[in-house]
Amino acid sequence: MYRDRIRLRSLWNKVTSAEEAASYIKDGMIVGMSGFTRAGEAKVVPMALAERAKREPLKITLMTGASLGNDVDRTLTNAKALSRRLPFQGDPTLRAAINRGEVMFIDQHLSETVELLRSRQMGPIDVAVIEVMGITEDGGLIPTTSVGNSATFAILAKEVIVELNLTQPLELEGMHDVYIPTRRPYRSPIPVLAPDARIGLPYIPIDPSRIKAIVVTQKADSCSTVLPPDDETRDIAGHLTEFLKHEVSQGRLTNTLHPLQAGIGTIANAVMHGLIDSPFHNLKMYSEVLQDSTIDLFDAGKLDFASGSSITLSNNRYEQFIANIGHYKHRLILRPQEISNHPEVIRRLGVIGVNTALEADIYGNINSTHVLGTHMMNGIGGSGDFARNAYLSVFVTKSMAKNGAISSIVPMVSHVDHTEHDVDVIVTECGLADLRGLAPRERSGLIIESCVHPSYRDAMKEYVAEALTRGGQTPHVIEKAFSWHTQFQRTGTMRPQAQNSDAA
Ligand code: COA
Repeated sequence: MYRDRIRLRSLWNKVTSAEEAASYIKDGMIVGMSGFTRAGEAKVVPMALAERAKREPLKITLMTGASLGNDVDRTLTNAKALSRRLPFQGDPTLRAAINRGEVMFIDQHLSETVELLRSRQMGPIDVAVIEVMGITEDGGLIPTTSVGNSATFAILAKEVIVELNLTQPLELEGMHDVYIPTRRPYRSPIPVLAPDARIGLPYIPIDPSRIKAIVVTQKADSCSTVLPPDDETRDIAGHLTEFLKHEVSQGRLTNTLHPLQAGIGTIANAVMHGLIDSPFHNLKMYSEVLQDSTIDLFDAGKLDFASGSSITLSNNRYEQFIANIGHYKHRLILRPQEISNHPEVIRRLGVIGVNTALEADIYGNINSTHVLGTHMMNGIGGSGDFARNAYLSVFVTKSMAKNGAISSIVPMVSHVDHTEHDVDVIVTECGLADLRGLAPRERSGLIIESCVHPSYRDAMKEYVAEALTRGGQTPHVIEKAFSWHTQFQRTGTMRPQAQNSDAA
């Protein structure tokens, strides 16, 4: 069976076990693995590596596209096989190891990792481990449900280990568009002039002599963990839809909008889902991860085309997608993440970017990564690539977290991923703040009235009133700027103390 998928016959004798393939990875190596938002990751070689790490000293630097499924990060962490990890992760066990300082995590803009490798500012990659659904007559690697950083990892690595996944449908062939930018400083423009532009090859071109081993696997991707829309995310979607309708009424957009990007996670997925009930039509996505909402928008007849770097779906949607892949295939492109997230292309296409904040502050700065300023959640991912370069940069969040013990809008964010300069609009279930063209002193009042939960609004107004007595372009009471966070650390809630004792 598998031989049909290895169309270059001279590679047939490279087929081996996961254990043998993993034995080519040595202690201290830098390993680049496929995988992006739980899609298309190498699945069996990392597990064999973890087994070895239990028996012998073995620690690697692991680079991927983004987060991995199939518990790969958890298993490698538990085996203590990771010394460094980049550029993104989403695994609770690895997250805890990072926050204990046991694994060095480099939180990077997703478009940048391969630029740093190519220019030898990082690296070099010793071994690439890439999941494919087939190998072409020339030895080209046909990716599966993600492209991520696989192409550049495979092109730059000294040796390549291939995981040939037989569960991935043959129809995936032709969905990928692999383009590698030319060298800087004389780089040609990246010729993506529209989300549906095909500019590269449907496979990763490599010299087949660098393929060290091929491991045949039959493990499916893990399904997405996003939750379905709820009342609050529906409200967020409603506010955003009203805002976009206003933009149309002002002649700044038409009902086909601009290409859309939606960040990872439950909230951004729910917001995109909300567009099903909007007047917008013939939409296009130029995004990074294509989630359930992409398929829902296709099925609702709202979406014409989607370009991304991975497809990460819930179980039901995945089965439906695979069963009807012919129906979706001609309307999808999967690209390397440096192209899906390329600042040049995002700026050219005028993408409307919708990303999620952990917390925002009264001036529009956004923290997407660090809980209480210190503890890593997942990473910045592609949100910075999109936010800085978008036509409209929207951040969404529920106004409160942890049953109301945390206000997602705080006086000053405890870590900054996206500065006030990169944020046009903030939306919570309470309302939407359009910050475009506003100075910090104008922003705070609007954010408080529109986005702060009513139970935190008075406390925030008090903070701002005191801050204004101190003056400045961006007024703060510096000694109290993190008082909401420190109170949470002390008492388990940010709620104003009077309210707490009332509640008690
Ligand atoms: N402080 C502490 N915890 C907070 C918080 C805050 N201000 N706001 C949210 N959280 C917690 C939630 O309680 C939840 O915790 P749980 O997993 O224990 O239930 C968790 O963060 C996730 O929040 P949720 O409300 O479910 O949102 P989400 O699934 O949409 O994820 C992010 C939100 C910010 C974590 C996620 O979008 C992310 O990692 N973003 C950064 C990367 C990115 O934006 N990539 C976009 C390009 S693809």
